[in-house]
Amino acid sequence: MKKTVLVSGGAGFIGSHVTVELLESGYEVVVADNFSNCDTTCFEGVKKITGRDDLPLVRMDFCDPAAVDRLFGEYDIDAVIHFAAFKAVGESVEKPVMYYKNNLESFLNVLEAAENHGGCNVLFSSSATVYGEPDQVPVTEQSPRKPATSPYGNTKQMCEDILRDAVKASKGLLKGILLRYFNPIGAHPSALIGELPRGVPNNLVPFITQTAIGRRECLSIFGNDYPTPDGTCLRDYIDIVDLAKAHVCAVSRMLDGKMKADCEVFNIGTGRPVSVLELVNAFEKVNKVKLNYRFAPRRAGDVTAIWADPSLANREMGWKAERSVEDTLAAAWAWEKHLAGK
Ligand code: UFG
Repeated sequence: MKKTVLVSGGAGFIGSHVTVELLESGYEVVVADNFSNCDTTCFEGVKKITGRDDLPLVRMDFCDPAAVDRLFGEYDIDAVIHFAAFKAVGESVEKPVMYYKNNLESFLNVLEAAENHGGCNVLFSSSATVYGEPDQVPVTEQSPRKPATSPYGNTKQMCEDILRDAVKASKGLLKGILLRYFNPIGAHPSALIGELPRGVPNNLVPFITQTAIGRRECLSIFGNDYPTPDGTCLRDYIDIVDLAKAHVCAVSRMLDGKMKADCEVFNIGTGRPVSVLELVNAFEKVNKVKLNYRFAPRRAGDVTAIWADPSLANREMGWKAERSVEDTLAAAWAWEKHLAGK
């Protein structure tokens, strides 16, 4: 019998790519989403890529405890991957109560329902943001977590702690894996799913592709006076399909009884630092387009440099990021062109 994975927030950027990889690896998937930050474009894309026109979709809000409980009653769920959350750093500073309420309540409801229905394997999507401005790079899973600089970051730290405590107290009913993502970018090679930000993009790559296609006039590179080789910030940009595959490895690790502790944490990154300017140059080169950009003042809250030591995930999960930055940027551009109907 196929194992079933519930993907909360499964119609979003990361959730849709993870759903494709799970289906292609032989898992059954239930997608649940309230479509508060996306439309059905990616869900439809997933169905097309996988040929699964019957893919179950539940429209629901994870902040509704009765709905979450019903979902666990209706399906025989072997593992849950929890993506459903708000994710804009700046917005979280303006609307902290909304962020804490949404991101904490939804996760607590998942854990409560999982416990009420006999336990579950829980994968939580965490972020490199928990490391703050690191004292040393690359960061390992043992690197200290720093006080969060935004309510969004704080919800990631709090959910990590909640899962750890819940697993510990559950007497084996719950198992957990925390995946700390670095900077997910790119799109599926089919160009049928990708990132679809509402309004002005906050993140670098959607801003680049929208500038290249002519939807934005000019990309601002935030800061060229950082203590880095070219003065711009360093990040670990990870291809979205590589990132999605890490979830399949983590799910099978849980379901096949390969975990070495009841709650584990893995960095999901490439181990390769890339500067903002390098990324812009690579985009221009691989896609043969000229990008209109200018240097602008630093953006508040940005860390200078962070990249992953992914060796634990490489060793323990047998997972490794494979795609080059160039291939990833080509996929991001193909997706933007697909959206523009070009
Ligand atoms: N940048 C620009 N111009 C832009 C947008 C971004 O120069 O228009 C720069 C930023 O200053 C930064 C780099 O591009 O140096 C990457 O910025 P992103 O916003 O794409 O990504 P961040 O590293 O700031 O944020 C990501 C995730 C967050 C997460 C954070 C820390 O998007 O959810 O990593 O882990 F919290």
